[in-house]
Amino acid sequence: MPPKTDAVTIRDARPADATALGVLGAELVRVHHGFDPLRFLEPRAGTAEGYGNFLRSQLGDPATVVLVAEHDGVLVGYAYAGFEDVDYMSLRGPAGVLHDVVVTPAKRGTGIGRRLVEAVLARLAAGGAPRVVLSTAERNAAAQALFAALGFRRTMVEMTRELGA
Ligand SMILES: CC(C)(COP(=O)(O)OP(=O)(O)OC[C@H]1O[C@@H](n2cnc3c(N)ncnc32)[C@H](O)[C@@H]1OP(=O)(O)O)[C@@H](O)C(=O)NCCC(=O)NCCS
Repeated sequence: MPPKTDAVTIRDARPADATALGVLGAELVRVHHGFDPLRFLEPRAGTAEGYGNFLRSQLGDPATVVLVAEHDGVLVGYAYAGFEDVDYMSLRGPAGVLHDVVVTPAKRGTGIGRRLVEAVLARLAAGGAPRVVLSTAERNAAAQALFAALGFRRTMVEMTRELGA
């Protein structure tokens, strides 16, 4: 029987994933800058490297979850979340916070984002988080549909106004 090549595996990120994670993180920056260039960071030459270094710095922290989706040895997505304590600024109790989820453009719509978020939710629940919160861009219909399909309800709206001359 030929080796199964189309399977996507979800696993914990490793330091060796940093470069590929950075490319995916830069894609997240690019997409959000497109939604609202004044609110979201502009992608720059060093964005992928910087993002990859940041995610690598999170690995091994028990308060952090970084999962990757791997297909044929290539990273095709990741999700990054953390465990947080009571946060008076957010008026909430302890929670898991889903910071990032991104799937490489060519693989979107094939169920990878759903699997990544489901795996993060399982990890957060197993770690004792009583709930999970996330923020999603106003214009990000795909992400909002994914989160709604996974049972998230709308609880906060961020508003932005530019200041200055
Ligand atoms: C949002 C994102 C992670 C979804 O990943 P994905 O692998 O394409 O999503 P899935 O194939 O697992 O879809 C799961 C569900 O999400 C919803 N969904 C996903 N993409 C959608 C789209 N373009 N339009 C409408 N609904 C969509 C559907 O409900 C879908 O369920 P279905 O397949 O039964 O219809 C992906 O579009 C992405 O990487 N976007 C850019 C980065 C980003 O915006 N990340 C979120 C930051 S908050």
